[in-house]
Amino acid sequence: MVRHFLHISDFEADDLREILQLATELKVKFRARDEYRPFTDRSLVMIFAKPSARTRVSFETGFTWMGGHALFLGPNDIGIGKREAIKDIARLFSRYNYLIMARLFDHAHILELAEHATIPVINGLTDYNHPCQIMADIFTIQEHLPGQEKVKVVYLGDGNNVVHSWLRLAMRLPLHFSCCCPQGYEPDADTVAEARGAGISTIEVLHDPQTAVADADVIYTDVWASMGQKDEADAREKVFAPYQVNKELMAATGRETLFMHCLPAERGREVTDAVMEADYSIVFDQAENRMHVQNAIMAWLVEHGN
Ligand code: CP
Ligand code: NVA
Repeated sequence: MVRHFLHISDFEADDLREILQLATELKVKFRARDEYRPFTDRSLVMIFAKPSARTRVSFETGFTWMGGHALFLGPNDIGIGKREAIKDIARLFSRYNYLIMARLFDHAHILELAEHATIPVINGLTDYNHPCQIMADIFTIQEHLPGQEKVKVVYLGDGNNVVHSWLRLAMRLPLHFSCCCPQGYEPDADTVAEARGAGISTIEVLHDPQTAVADADVIYTDVWASMGQKDEADAREKVFAPYQVNKELMAATGRETLFMHCLPAERGREVTDAVMEADYSIVFDQAENRMHVQNAIMAWLVEHGN
């Protein structure tokens, strides 16, 4: 059976721990530029219907280091679902390539791609979720807060794709996850219910930033208008202004707290420049870890498929 990486909750807790452990080993190897070439003579095809800096560069760099070749297809290359049916693209690329990574708008499209592909499909973000990001984020938290059980992560902003992946992680590994957002911008109610129903994490959806951040180990934010919503940016700015992560809000946790952001950041909107540049900001550790964790995901999928 081919294994895809579409949602964190598709994996058992032990699988996730194994992937994170492999990422630890691959990070050491990559930094030493040791040889690790499970993908010699193989190709990864990367389909991007939306822009990207980190996802493209981390996948391409990682796959190259692991001995393979990564192909980039941008928003104008395929016309996925328009010029060509998704199920045809899935079967076509399964004939040429070893892995598919896709960043698409509609989540149903990545599910359809995976249904018809005979090689692993990795979700590089959809309107619904961003699983590679949150795997890198929990890896980064474990590096900074080793051995700490049930880390308290308080997310401020839109209940978006990043939040859905946090909730799906919370279905498998114990967390205290609070999403603090304006009324009307809550995460998907079914996903929240499923995360609560899994019974291993504390899940909160809150609206008051000052009280939400109390005792946070990590404050996390993301853009207020995601890709595909940029025409709403001005209107959203007014609604989201009280949720800005600034030095005052960081101080309101009442303890030492790390700051995280998946990036790209819009300084002066969801986060101030001072917070981005502060000692407690670990945003570039997160960004670096995207590559190590994705390398582990790719190697793990291939080892555990078929
Ligand atoms: N965090 C992230 O996925 O960044 P890109 O959109 O630049 O890939
Ligand atoms: N929520 C953001 C994440 C970017 C990595 C977006 O979808 O644009």
